[in-house]
Amino acid sequence: MGRKKIALVGGGQIGGILALLCAQKQLGNAIVFDIPEKEGFVQGKALDIMEMRPSFGGDIDLAGSGDFSKMAGSDVVIVTAGLPRKPGMSRDDLLNVNIKIISDVAEAVKKYCPKAFCIILTNPLDAMVYVFKKLTGFPKNQVVGMAGVLDTNRFKAFVSMELGVSVQDISALVLGGHGPTMVPLVRLATVGGVPLIELLPADKLEAISKRTAEAGTEIVKLLGNGSAFFSPAAAAIDMAESYLLDKKRVLACAALLEGEYGINGYYIGVPVIIGAGGVEKVLEVSLTAEEKAALANTLEAVKKTVAETKL
Ligand code: NAD
Ligand code: LAC
Repeated sequence: MGRKKIALVGGGQIGGILALLCAQKQLGNAIVFDIPEKEGFVQGKALDIMEMRPSFGGDIDLAGSGDFSKMAGSDVVIVTAGLPRKPGMSRDDLLNVNIKIISDVAEAVKKYCPKAFCIILTNPLDAMVYVFKKLTGFPKNQVVGMAGVLDTNRFKAFVSMELGVSVQDISALVLGGHGPTMVPLVRLATVGGVPLIELLPADKLEAISKRTAEAGTEIVKLLGNGSAFFSPAAAAIDMAESYLLDKKRVLACAALLEGEYGINGYYIGVPVIIGAGGVEKVLEVSLTAEEKAALANTLEAVKKTVAETKL
């Protein structure tokens, strides 16, 4: 059986945290990939974590490389290769530069590890995961975008901060595109089984939903250079772990819809089951007229960005 093999494509802010989390959770042997000019950079990060392992008892192997051929045999590929945004930029502003990067990565993954479960993070997320799927031609269960887990975690964090309750007891779901039009399903959120709408007034719930939709921008502004990286990495690892351990978790992910929610041919954030079969099932939730309108609105935003890919 042996250890699983994980390819982390992009060894920047998120890639480094991904490598650390893979080691701490002993998910498998990981190689952090970056452009050849940054091979030393990612080798240094990997070696640093290797030397950290005695502190937490992790026995996996970590390496860094600029040689994509070393992806061969990977079970999971997590893609963060691409530019993050700077203050004042929208995620869509990254499309023209990141589509080239994602195209290169898709070609390499198709060549070297065509059976890998692929988790895409690069922004604009809903378009980049669509491009990756189109260019690899992989089955839809094999290609998924990470955004909904992050957006849902952000919603949970804000509820926890407002109510002073443990994040462990908050259940929530954010649907839609990874952008300002995302749809937090406030109506369905619960705290220890208690409906959130019975615990907070409408104005507080609206404020939390709005902060969730703008949470990425809030951090971009505070950091001044780059975007969030701890929380996105943790969200992606939740997805990778559910695949590698066949946990069958129900997670909000950008999945390819073929009729579900009345949507066909687009990746968008919906609840899915992730297990050894990758994206094993899309779960449909009945929506109110208002929620359906919000989903239609976010779908329009996704369609607009996808159209710019010209694929
Ligand atoms: P970063 O700039 O710190 O790291 C990106 C890395 O990709 C860099 O090291 C760069 O050299 C590398 N890279 C560029 N071209 C490459 C290629 N062809 N092959 C391999 N590596 C290549 O950025 P980051 O903060 O890690 O963010 C990475 C991406 O993730 C950005 O597009 C960002 O917008 C996105 N992001 C997505 C989410 C989400 O929820 N989906 C959350 C946060 C960030
Ligand atoms: C951003 C990430 C969180 O661009 O998508 O802010």
